[in-house]
Amino acid sequence: MITKYMTGSDLPLNINNTLVRYDDKGKGEIPVIFIHGFPFDKQMWQPQFQFFSKTNRTIAYDIRGFGKSEAGMQMPSIGLYADDLINFMDALEIEKAIVCGLSMGGYVVMNAAVLCPDRFEAIILCDTQCIADSPAVKEYRNKLITKIIAGKKSEFVEEFIQQVFCKESLDHKQHVVEKVRKGVMATSPVSITGSLGAMAERHDMCSQLNKILVPTLIICGEYDIITPPAQSEVILKNIKNSKMHTLKRAGHLSNLEQPEEFNQLMQQFIMELSG
Ligand code: MLT
Repeated sequence: MITKYMTGSDLPLNINNTLVRYDDKGKGEIPVIFIHGFPFDKQMWQPQFQFFSKTNRTIAYDIRGFGKSEAGMQMPSIGLYADDLINFMDALEIEKAIVCGLSMGGYVVMNAAVLCPDRFEAIILCDTQCIADSPAVKEYRNKLITKIIAGKKSEFVEEFIQQVFCKESLDHKQHVVEKVRKGVMATSPVSITGSLGAMAERHDMCSQLNKILVPTLIICGEYDIITPPAQSEVILKNIKNSKMHTLKRAGHLSNLEQPEEFNQLMQQFIMELSG
């Protein structure tokens, strides 16, 4: 079979007048697309990318402003990121995909799946939530923005690292923690503050989730303190065709903290779609 699309790493694509970089590997009828959380990049899907590209066409891209994608000129918003996802699929002539998003990546997937339900074969929502920010969370994000503008990005990164991993990971998975810390440190302050603003302004999606009818897998780390399992249960209640798994010994970055179990759950879910 001749592959019509390019495969490789850091491939360039112009999306909404912005240069976006993506990785594309493996073969399969329905591609699996991974969307990272804030303020990470596509590298956070490495354990999943390696695993799924053996059996599926597997794609991961950097959201505008993160990793190797340009920030573009438009004001960041979750709506814009969701529009980028649909345009990304259009540019690669992907009619339907299985799309997996973690945290902010999950906000993007929920928005896009509500707007364009026909483009999704199934979705995987990891460590995310459908509620909008409360006034207290908005205020917290504004404080973070002020801190970063004041040049204290490393302080922000340290606090963030302590929140995204569970204690066991912080103590025993230093190579993973270090990799994430390096990735976040490399992200530009403008992109970090832009995304904090975008998340603060995002709308509640819980009341719209009934528009999502495709099979949905919800995964959440048991010790996730940013988007706790209780928030995944709200998603579970609002998406009819959904099921949820709580990952033991994981925090907010469940795919990196328990990669084997995460991959197995996702693989089982994908196998059931075709069975
Ligand atoms: C993320 O991991 O994408 C963010 O922490 C989500 C959030 O802050 O709402």
